[in-house]
Amino acid sequence: MANDVIIAGLDIGSNSIKCVVGVADAQGGVDIIGTGCATTKGMRAGDVQNRAEFVAAIRRAREEAEMMAGVELNDVFVSVSGIPLECDSSFGAWCIEGAEVAETDIRQVLRIARARQVAPTTDVLFCVPGHYMVDSHIDIVAPIGLRGVRLEVDVHLNIGKRETFDEIARCCKEAGLSVGTFVPNTLASGEALLRAEDREMGIALVDIGGSTTEISVYRGGALVFSTNLPVGGERVTSDLSIMFQVPGVEAERLKQTSGSALSWKVGDHETVELPVVGGMRARTVARSEVAQVCEARYEEILQLVRDAIVSEGLVVGVRMPHVVFTGGASQIANLVDLAERVLSTPCVYGEPRSVRGMVDMVRNPKYAAATGIVLYAARKRPDVWVPVTPTAPAKTLFSRLLDWIR
Ligand SMILES: Nc1ncnc2c1ncn2[C@@H]1O[C@H](COP(=O)(O)OP(=O)(O)OP(=O)(O)O)[C@@H](O)[C@H]1O
Ligand SMILES: [Mg+2]
Repeated sequence: MANDVIIAGLDIGSNSIKCVVGVADAQGGVDIIGTGCATTKGMRAGDVQNRAEFVAAIRRAREEAEMMAGVELNDVFVSVSGIPLECDSSFGAWCIEGAEVAETDIRQVLRIARARQVAPTTDVLFCVPGHYMVDSHIDIVAPIGLRGVRLEVDVHLNIGKRETFDEIARCCKEAGLSVGTFVPNTLASGEALLRAEDREMGIALVDIGGSTTEISVYRGGALVFSTNLPVGGERVTSDLSIMFQVPGVEAERLKQTSGSALSWKVGDHETVELPVVGGMRARTVARSEVAQVCEARYEEILQLVRDAIVSEGLVVGVRMPHVVFTGGASQIANLVDLAERVLSTPCVYGEPRSVRGMVDMVRNPKYAAATGIVLYAARKRPDVWVPVTPTAPAKTLFSRLLDWIR
């Protein structure tokens, strides 16, 4: 269709870089046409450490997605995980003097909400609006057009080092991609996996990645809490590596092929062959021993998730919000069963919503954030789209969307 645009989302994780390409129509519908994924160790603890390797990984993810989609990509929307970000909440108020709330008022109130004194080397990187209030009307998600005197908003701030994002943008540029804007991870995965009714009723989204676990809680249609824990699937791999004295790659294979988050679900007589390494003889271990190591670490991660949600006062009565899991490390067998026990609430695996085309390609939970970026860009600002052709200057689209998000 003439007004269809190609949107590319790039999710830069501590473990791998994922690229998803979609064709968005004027109604915000998205056809997935390509994906690419490249593992990388180029970024550690939020800093680009091996630049050449990191740039090469971005290029690989881009080229794989381009090949599948049959298009050339020049611009991307990007989310980054694995970077230590301080999460905080704030609020802003703005006088609307009896007029209808307009888009300029939204920008003003968000500008005020994000004005915060932060440590000298850090900046407020993202300001995600929660609920708005217009005079006595509370818990409003879309206030434009309402009349009142005073507009207020609760926001979630992500505070971190801007240099890291600048450096990532430079690396993307070297890999042939201009970064239009960075999208907060919390919004990206939520856009892909949560239905409007889930957000309305109250739900928690937990993305267990390689080195981080990101939690976002929605209620009344808006994000009410987000945080990230510095622990993910890599810890499980490293536990297995130490426990069974196998190298990291073998421990990873062991986890993916024989791991389980519940050891009692593993048959008593099941065994696993360990590889011959470092002059050791071939060994066989009970699969339940492998599962016990996995279970202990996943249980710890889930307890941290529970503590984070409980300490924010987000447990209504005695009940936790329902939980949707995503992220590569959520693929361990029996995670949902363990989670329901630890969190005492119904838990499910996230499924990409509202996408068409190569849906099976993005069903793997590691693609949730990259898919969400494409949906987010497609839905939030349809009025600022410009049709993308290989030569079209897309800068205005990106800079305007950037303004909106910030
Ligand atoms: N089948 C599987 N079972 C268990 N864990 C898995 C499986 N497949 C992948 N993983 C784990 O998923 C993790 C990577 O997930 P993901 O790609 O979401 O991380 P990332 O986005 O790169 O990291 P982060 O979000 O922490 O920066 C790794 O720790 C990997 O071991
Ligand atoms: Mg991630």
